[in-house]
Amino acid sequence: MPSARIIGTGSYLPPKVLTNADLEKLVDTSDEWILTRTGIVERRIAPEEEATSDLALRAAQAALEAAGLDPVDLDMILVATITPDMPFPSTACVLQDRLGARRAAAMDLSAACSGFIYGLGMADGLIRAGTARTVLLLGAETLTKVVNWQDRNTCVLFGDGAGAVVLRADEGERGILSTHLYADGSKGSLLILPGCGSRHPVSHAAVDAGLAKMQMNGGNEVFKLAVRAMEDAALTALKQHGLEVSDVDHLITHQANLRIISALGQRLGVPDHKVEVTIRKYGNTSAASIPIALDEAVRAGRVKAGEIVLLCAFGGGLTWASSLIRW
Ligand code: ACO
Repeated sequence: MPSARIIGTGSYLPPKVLTNADLEKLVDTSDEWILTRTGIVERRIAPEEEATSDLALRAAQAALEAAGLDPVDLDMILVATITPDMPFPSTACVLQDRLGARRAAAMDLSAACSGFIYGLGMADGLIRAGTARTVLLLGAETLTKVVNWQDRNTCVLFGDGAGAVVLRADEGERGILSTHLYADGSKGSLLILPGCGSRHPVSHAAVDAGLAKMQMNGGNEVFKLAVRAMEDAALTALKQHGLEVSDVDHLITHQANLRIISALGQRLGVPDHKVEVTIRKYGNTSAASIPIALDEAVRAGRVKAGEIVLLCAFGGGLTWASSLIRW
């Protein structure tokens, strides 16, 4: 059975920067609060005229170039996002057209901040089963379009961006070793965008009631759940492959809060120099955060062939996940 190997990575961040000082002018907050509670210094904001597929397109082109492939080589495009261009057609179909990937099937998947690892699980399964040989997987978001800019609890946290990987069937030892996916729908209301679906269809009333914007009900509870759940998922993955924490060369987690990333690293016993951190400059980009951090680590030459990369994520749903990769 072939394994799914990542043969190219790419990312794109819109150039416009929103600093903590800028946010001080919008809501009752301070650079000091944001920095000490989250580790975020600034985040990127997509322009009004750009949608998620615009960011995804540039990340996809970079990943395909790194892989040395043409869009017509793709069998499948998966886009993990909770901020699609529109309910349908999927952002993946929009991307398929814009790339000219005319042989590729295309679909979106929704697992909030865990979406990229969920997508890795799907891509791995498709490749192992022989359904697809070459898969383009993206995490792409424009969360600042669904943030309530009057709510200091959420608007300081999020940013826009896209990350992409190209996976290809490989007969060697390298590739995705496994993915572990989890969900607890009973806690869905902790992180929610309640309106503009079939429950509360688009209407003036729904918009006026704030239902078209993201809500976080209990950030502190999410914080504690996130650390525990990602630790469990990480240890389960290592145990399955008979690996120790000391075998991990790189820990790349969803970037929601620097304190969550540090707490996870400390609980697992992974030293700081093995932990990738991008949250300072990009904030929480949901499904995009892991592939962006992975791309930056790869392009900086930090990730070497044969090394063990551990991915962990946690997000709305609730969902959480881990993946082990032999690079
Ligand atoms: N500026 C100033 N004060 C603020 C701000 C702000 N931007 N935001 C909240 N506060 C206040 C609160 O109102 C509260 O005040 P009170 O004590 O008077 O009520 C106080 O700060 C402390 O609030 P806590 O919730 O206890 O703060 P905490 O240290 O937990 O930090 C945070 C909050 C950053 C949200 C943290 O809990 C967190 O990161 N949680 C996890 C979020 C997460 O992981 N999301 C992941 C998924 S997102 C997705 O799936 C789309």
